[in-house]
Amino acid sequence: MKNIVLKDGRTAILRRAIKEDAEEMLKYMDTIATESDFLTFEQGELKLTVKKQQASIENNLMESKLFIIVMVEDKIIGNLSFSAGHRIRSRHAGEFGITVLKEYWNNGVASEMIGFMIDWAKERGVIRKINLRVRTDNPRAIHLYSKFGFKCEGILTRNFYIKEVFYDSMEMGLLLD
Ligand SMILES: CC(C)(COP(=O)(O)OP(=O)(O)OC[C@H]1O[C@@H](n2cnc3c(N)ncnc32)[C@H](O)[C@@H]1OP(=O)(O)O)[C@@H](O)C(=O)NCCC(=O)NCCS
Repeated sequence: MKNIVLKDGRTAILRRAIKEDAEEMLKYMDTIATESDFLTFEQGELKLTVKKQQASIENNLMESKLFIIVMVEDKIIGNLSFSAGHRIRSRHAGEFGITVLKEYWNNGVASEMIGFMIDWAKERGVIRKINLRVRTDNPRAIHLYSKFGFKCEGILTRNFYIKEVFYDSMEMGLLLD
């Protein structure tokens, strides 16, 4: 758990999610789905229930996974989910996704979560590579990842199809040595 101060002076708590966060997490997912087209899912598409969300959070307590949330008072305002492979040949590499509630964008929330993930991965020692996929027309996210040393490793054309338009995505990676 970590106390953080946002750029606008508000305070927040960053911590791993627990089963009891499932209901609040559902509310959060519902809200972010309406706030950004940069997500990989449509509003209502995930058909999440509290039970499914609880199972997902419990699954993410495994050693190779990290599921963190940022809370302002009792409200979730950010989430990062990282998952590494579980086989001997793939457990050194993992991928993450990240979101922040629009009201809190540009306040350093995502930076705090990425910094936390990198420290966690380094401490564990097993993870040597962190991957992500981002739409090529998402400059805020690309700036954010580049700031932490992620490098472009290629472009996937037509990787997303949103409201009848194709979008390319960029593969980015960070080596941990
Ligand atoms: C991308 C996202 C996670 C960033 O979260 P955030 O908490 O606003 O990020 P931070 O405040 O830590 O950092 C944002 C950085 O982008 C910069 N930035 C903002 N708008 C920008 C723009 N149009 N172009 C380039 N950089 C931009 C900010 O200045 C800041 O950089 P700095 O730390 O060097 O000052 C958030 O905007 C989000 O949830 N977006 C919708 C979902 C999404 O795009 N997820 C990522 C999918 S890969």
